[in-house]
Amino acid sequence: MEHLRIPGPTPLPDEALQAMTKQMIDHRGEEIGQMIKRVTANLQQLFQTKNDVFLLTGSGTGGLEAAVVNTLSPGDKVLSIAIGVFGERFLTIAQRFGAEVIPLRAEWGKAADVDYVRKALQAEPEIKAVLVTHNETSTGVTNDLEAISQLVKEFDKLLLVDAISSLGSINLPVDGWHCDVAITGSQKGWMAPPGLAMVSVSEQAWRANAEAKIPRFYWDFAQAKKYLENGQTPWTPAMSTIFALSVSLEMMLKEGLPNIIARHARVANAAREGVKSLGLTLFADEKYASNTVTAIAASDGLDAKKLLKILSEEHHMTLGGGQQSLGGKIFRIGHLGWVTEDDIKAVLSALKVVLPQAGFVGGK
Ligand SMILES: Cc1ncc(COP(=O)(O)O)c(C=O)c1O
Repeated sequence: MEHLRIPGPTPLPDEALQAMTKQMIDHRGEEIGQMIKRVTANLQQLFQTKNDVFLLTGSGTGGLEAAVVNTLSPGDKVLSIAIGVFGERFLTIAQRFGAEVIPLRAEWGKAADVDYVRKALQAEPEIKAVLVTHNETSTGVTNDLEAISQLVKEFDKLLLVDAISSLGSINLPVDGWHCDVAITGSQKGWMAPPGLAMVSVSEQAWRANAEAKIPRFYWDFAQAKKYLENGQTPWTPAMSTIFALSVSLEMMLKEGLPNIIARHARVANAAREGVKSLGLTLFADEKYASNTVTAIAASDGLDAKKLLKILSEEHHMTLGGGQQSLGGKIFRIGHLGWVTEDDIKAVLSALKVVLPQAGFVGGK
């Protein structure tokens, strides 16, 4: 079997795979309508929210774009907290649609400093919204969203959260932490294939939506809300992904959200302790190390690209590489969704063999 241990897409349980073999049905019919309503209600539970939740056909990036175009107008000032590749992407989307972006960056591998967020909000009272990545998949860092969200609401701003690689795996009470739009993707912790962005939309986000002037069509939340009343989506949805998600959500609810969150914490801990015991160094500030992806520095002679190549060719194991400027500098183990400690044991056993073959001279 191929060991796919990247931070999404993730391997799927048999039940979800089987669900995808279901024959096509009428996308305006009763059966899909009931399924969409059930999936949406189940997502609300797992998002810990009473807000509207929509299934948007597209990838997570589409969900980020949807958050921007549905709540902002050209010229709006936004504070964009970027601590890695995906924070930069969210920031760029806002810029591309004409927002006046105030960037707040942290060194890659570190979390956003909450004091700097406060200073930025104090310095610029005109800021309308704060954009933030909960879990930065490119660096393996989880921001302190609880503290950030408290601040954002103290200043009464809109909070748009990229929770693509955290929701459903790491605790994120969407209502408790006042997220106005929270976005995730089906291929991450949800044990489903790619194809859907799932987003929640608060009352405050709806008020912003009523005034937002950025043109929108495909991603229009108002259309999504109107169609959901009849268990439909405005445009043809990725039905096979919904079939799989419908099954995987039942599995998640059976396991229970607190257990899922605890399992991800345990598995992540096993990954971090395991790589350290091999003499490797974590890339992320350990205080903020992610429970869905572990980023490891290519130190002590390690050729990260060679490591990934040998793992793939000789051990049928795929780990993640570094993105953009982190190419060759780190590698990443994805541990979200359908994952247990045994999967991490398999990764660590393979690493033990391959590390010296890839030039690693540390840990002796
Ligand atoms: C934190 C985060 N944001 C955004 C994305 C982009 O999602 P997609 O590739 O589904 O468009 C990803 C995907 O890896 C991610 O992990």
